[in-house]
Amino acid sequence: MKARRLSSTPIIHVVLRRCFSTVLAFRAMDTDRLLRELTDFLRIPSVSTNPSHNTDCRAAAEWVGGELRRLGCREVQFLASDTHPVVWGVGPEVPGAPTLLIYGHYDVQPPEPLDEWTTPPFEPTVRDGKLFARGAADDKGQVFCLLKAIEERSGRPPVNFRFLIEGEEEYGSRVLFELLRREPERTRADAVLIADMAYVAPRWPAVYTTLRGLCYAEITVRTAKSDLHSGEFGGAAPNAHEELARLLGRLKTPDGKVHVPGLYASVKPPSKVELATWKRLPFREGEFLKHRVRAKALTGLKAYSVLERLWALPTFEIHGITGGFTGDGAKTVIPAEATAKVSLRLVPDQKLKAVERQLTAAVRRFAPKHVQASVKFLHGADPATVKVTHPAFKLLDQAFREVVGRGTVPARAGGSIPVVPALGKGGAPVILTGIGLPDDRLHAPNEKLDLKQLWDGIRVFGRFYELLGT
Ligand code: BES
Ligand code: MN
Ligand code: MN
Repeated sequence: MKARRLSSTPIIHVVLRRCFSTVLAFRAMDTDRLLRELTDFLRIPSVSTNPSHNTDCRAAAEWVGGELRRLGCREVQFLASDTHPVVWGVGPEVPGAPTLLIYGHYDVQPPEPLDEWTTPPFEPTVRDGKLFARGAADDKGQVFCLLKAIEERSGRPPVNFRFLIEGEEEYGSRVLFELLRREPERTRADAVLIADMAYVAPRWPAVYTTLRGLCYAEITVRTAKSDLHSGEFGGAAPNAHEELARLLGRLKTPDGKVHVPGLYASVKPPSKVELATWKRLPFREGEFLKHRVRAKALTGLKAYSVLERLWALPTFEIHGITGGFTGDGAKTVIPAEATAKVSLRLVPDQKLKAVERQLTAAVRRFAPKHVQASVKFLHGADPATVKVTHPAFKLLDQAFREVVGRGTVPARAGGSIPVVPALGKGGAPVILTGIGLPDDRLHAPNEKLDLKQLWDGIRVFGRFYELLGT
């Protein structure tokens, strides 16, 4: 792997000169070593949704545990699962200092389709100042950033660190939910810090005020006892794929409205003030289509801006359809069963439990009598809302301002982090931020992390910890 020691850019010199104390607190960063260490972490294919990677998930947990021990944690535990344990750490005691809980995840999404990766997903590679690998931005690279921001500073830690690094975020966080239900005191802290998101645009760091929730389901349609010869029976027998396609078609109207009765009733529209702030963000719909979506057109409810569609409205997406014959060659068969993996994103103030009931009712209502339709829920999450008024947000804003030259803008997130509502239950502010960029291609081929973002991020969070401690 080609790795290069990155020199500071002029802007950093200027900014660092302005806050000389920050410079003194840093040892020179050995970026070659850091890159080697992150590469070791990224090499582990810790795909949580696939049981064939159970030992890899455990290995990634051990890697995190090793880092926490190196940071001098008094306590490092692997909790609640042998294969996807929650890694719990308690940093050195700093009497009188506040407690900061760091949350992140060491699991990643499946890397497929493999042939679309320029270099293999679990062979991290640097090209053009970017580190390409599954998990580079989501979330291993960002967990790495938060940990190295502690390690890279000399002297005693400025705050009491607690760590909850889980291994099932990409599969609904069931293990961590169970753990926090039994032991809610683990979330006791003065603030919770999560770096699992991105800047809203290059040079525009953000804090997030909402996350969408998620309702992930399989809709299965059965039409006969078994598959049938399409010559013998075609024309007179029901076809499961055809019925499923029609059913799915009924769940969303062509203009992009999700046709699940009752779904929009509890959607809370963003305030006028919030909508006005979105207009001032560096977001252009045309640029979004051309460079990020890279399709011919945008879809969805045209009466709403793209940011409203992404951040403040529920969605319905089909992820994949299985059943029937999909192998090489040809087979003339009428499938008796077909399944679609689907999900709905939820926004404040929708509730997962209510949406599950609404989806089940809609499927029952839209499936014809001669079709057996069922819905199975795989995982889900309530949407999250966080107030960004706590003084800790000011300190993060200051840290970004000093290191990258601009403070944080409030934004919303389209994605989900299931345990965020549970992490905030104890009353601590949950700081949702990150060092990713909008073009990092999370969950997709050629996911990457810009190394400049990482080196800046290590300085930002290091400074944030220091400010929080004083
Ligand atoms: N880091 C993402 C969440 C995210 C993505 C927040 C983009 C903001 C912007 C997280 O790892 C994720 O992908 N979560 C899943 C959760 C689900 C599988 C329960 C998601 O949103 O699909
Ligand atoms: Mn993530
Ligand atoms: Mn993710």
